[in-house]
Amino acid sequence: MKERLLRAILPLLLRVVLPIFRPLHRFFTEMNITLFQLRRCFLWSTRPTDIFLCTYPKSGTTWLQMILYQLQTDGDMERIPHLSIAIPHFEESALPIEGLPNPRVFKSHLPFWAVPKGGKMIYVTRDGQDVANSFFHHMQTVKLYKGSFDQFFDAFLAGRVPYRSWFAHLAGWSKARSRPDVLVVHYEDMLADLEREVRRIAAFCGIPIDETQMPRILERCSFAYMKTQEDKLDVGTYERHLQAMISARQTDVMFIREGKKGKGRDRLSEAQRARYATVFTKQLRGFGWDRYDTTRQPDRSVSQSGGEVLAP
Ligand code: PPS
Repeated sequence: MKERLLRAILPLLLRVVLPIFRPLHRFFTEMNITLFQLRRCFLWSTRPTDIFLCTYPKSGTTWLQMILYQLQTDGDMERIPHLSIAIPHFEESALPIEGLPNPRVFKSHLPFWAVPKGGKMIYVTRDGQDVANSFFHHMQTVKLYKGSFDQFFDAFLAGRVPYRSWFAHLAGWSKARSRPDVLVVHYEDMLADLEREVRRIAAFCGIPIDETQMPRILERCSFAYMKTQEDKLDVGTYERHLQAMISARQTDVMFIREGKKGKGRDRLSEAQRARYATVFTKQLRGFGWDRYDTTRQPDRSVSQSGGEVLAP
């Protein structure tokens, strides 16, 4: 009886359910989104005061979290066990983040379409070559990648890394650029003039700045200060914190790592730069991210830690 039932159902499953399920499964896997995350994204009840700090990984997420924390509070780091407790990772946090008091601020690596709308979104971008370099170091530090940089760079170009393609992420977010509820911030601009970018962010979020507090905000958002707070910023220490396993500070923390621009490009061979340019042209040209189009940039043979703002 059971066998007969199975025989009747199996062909139906194979013919009808699998063809529907497979592309759906592929779609969400490509997007690197789990069902838990989808549920949170689409059943989320957004408050107008919510602020989403959105990025492709390694583009300045933690820096922006620190800026928001410094703008919204007295900036005391002693008050919080970890920055990601105050400003959680929206799609990944296992904590009951719905009940946070207003204004709720979240970090997110989601593509534009998946971020709940109704609040405000800040999208931070960084040169893809520097992102690849930073990502590689991150993956090695957290021991999730054992290959060489060259192998990682190939995977990065093909979008075969966690959070998938940097190119697709920027392409998706390009639609959001003209929306009044979206502010685009560039990592390189924060390096060049942090105060100007902090003021833009505060104005967009409607946070008044007490001018006497500006020196404190800038000092706490500096690379040097954030380096001293690394165990409250690093995603690894956050995981360990959550699991209540912090016994001693790990020696391999390398999250606030270098904080420069141009290092990724310096690391690439001529052939890798050419391949990056080809993928960029194919996938991102015409999407409004010209400042990251290496074929349009003046040649930079040495890395810089700040300086000029690339043409928008
Ligand atoms: S993550 O894992 O996605 O949250 O990483 P993310 O925070 O987006 O990116 C980490 C890189 O940002 C650099 N960083 C800074 N640079 C300059 N100034 C300040 N204050 C600062 N804070 C963080 C950090 O060093 C990582 O870049 P790399 O190139 O690896 O140094």
